[in-house]
This record gives sequence, structure tokens and C-alpha cells, in this order.
Amino acid sequence: MIVVAHRGASAYAPENTLAALEAAPRLGAHMAEIDVRRTADGELVVVHDPTLARTTDAALRYPGRRPWRVQDFTLAEIRTLDAGFWFSDRYAGQRVPTLGEALDVLRQHGCGALVELKVQRRDPLLCSRMLEFLARDPYWRSARRDGTLMLQSFDWVVLRALTESLPGLCTAALGRPYGRIGLRRLARYARQVHPHHLRVTAPYVRQVHDQGMGMFGWTVNHPGAIRRLVRDGVDGIITDYPDRVAGEALLA
Ligand code: G3P
Ligand code: CA
Repeated sequence: MIVVAHRGASAYAPENTLAALEAAPRLGAHMAEIDVRRTADGELVVVHDPTLARTTDAALRYPGRRPWRVQDFTLAEIRTLDAGFWFSDRYAGQRVPTLGEALDVLRQHGCGALVELKVQRRDPLLCSRMLEFLARDPYWRSARRDGTLMLQSFDWVVLRALTESLPGLCTAALGRPYGRIGLRRLARYARQVHPHHLRVTAPYVRQVHDQGMGMFGWTVNHPGAIRRLVRDGVDGIITDYPDRVAGEALLA
């Protein structure tokens, strides 16, 4: 059972910060999930929402820049923001990491990466920047084949384009494809299916496995839900509480 810390160990530290990523393997995660977006100057940063309002102090520091969209700020501006104070005083001063910084921390801690591309209208620059990063980084270049690095998206057209550009890339489709034919088509460019946990059933897991694909369910925090997904036969659990999975799996 692969344990994936959702946005890092986001129940214990501010989501998508280096603190949350460092905590993930200490709490039993094999991989950490991060969300990637593009800045105004084409850099890749780790942040979930389309705007910086909820998880940083952008509204305080840049009151005239409403609605504080990530794509309207340069990397230099984003680096001035505090991405931890909203969670607790202990994490004040955490920054929005770049993709490179986040992946460096995960590599140093022996933790895999599940990178979600938050694509705005199929933004070709986000995808080309991601491909450039993978091409120049020797560690993640090889990790992308063995599943230590996996790319996921709700946008399956983007996944197909990425695997066509980089054959062997390990990708996962977020959402739930229907029927055997849909799954067979998807299997040409995705190794895994990642549905919301309420959409997971044992027959569906078997159907996905029959196509040679794997399945991780998200975002599974309640102990009973973790046990149910383990019983249903999923290959991985994406959770804000990575420390819960091993114990619940024993009880499943
Ligand atoms: O890993 C799946 C999950 O991250 C998708 O939803 O909104 O948390 O990015 P969201
Ligand atoms: Ca995500």
C-alpha cells in the first residue's frame, strides 16, 4: 500500500510548503502530492488554489492586486509572501516553494513525488516548463519511469500530450473514467486512475487492475474510509494524515 501525503502532510503543517513535505516521510508517506502552477514569468511554483489569497498573505501585502491570481504574480513577488502564518505561528515564514525546491526536499528525504498539474485552459507553457524540468534533472529524469515521480491531472488531454512528448512518463488520470472501453483508451497514456474515494468500489478496482493500471484514492482521511479502500484493493491512499494508513491497513 503506497501512502501519499496530500499537499505534503497537510494536516500537520501548511499545505504545499517545504515543512509539510519534510514531515511527510517522517509520518510514513512513501510519496508526497504537490500542486503545480505557473507564475506570470513562467516559473513553476507549488500552490493549490488559482489565487494566493487563502494560503498566503498576498491580500495584506498587495491589497491592490485582487484577486491575487498566481499567474499574475512573478516568482520574485511570490517569494516575498508568507505561506505558513495562516496555519499556525510556528510556521510563519514558510515560503511558496518552486517545483525544483519541493522536489529537492523530497529527494533528500527519500520520498517520491506525485505532481498535480493545475492546468489553466491547457496552458502549453506550464506543460513545456514541466517537460524542460524533467529533461534537465538527472534524478527525476530516471524517477519518472519507475513511478517515484508521477504526474497527475484532471485534464487527460494534457496527460496524453505529456506522454507523447516523454514516452515512459508515469502519469495518472484524476477522476473516474467509465467502462472498459474508456479505461482501455486511457491505459494508452496513463498508468493509474485516481478517483475520489467515494467513487471507489471493489469491482471498479478489479476493472482498473484488469487493464494493467493501478489505483490511488483521494483524499482519504477518516479511519473507516481508509480501511474500506484497503479492503477494496486500491494500490495507494492519498491522505492529509499519512500516519493513519499503516494502522488502519492492519485493521482492514
Ligand atoms: O491527489 C488528488 C487531489 O489532490 C485532487 O484534488 O483539489 O486536492 O488538488 P485537490
Ligand atoms: Ca492536488
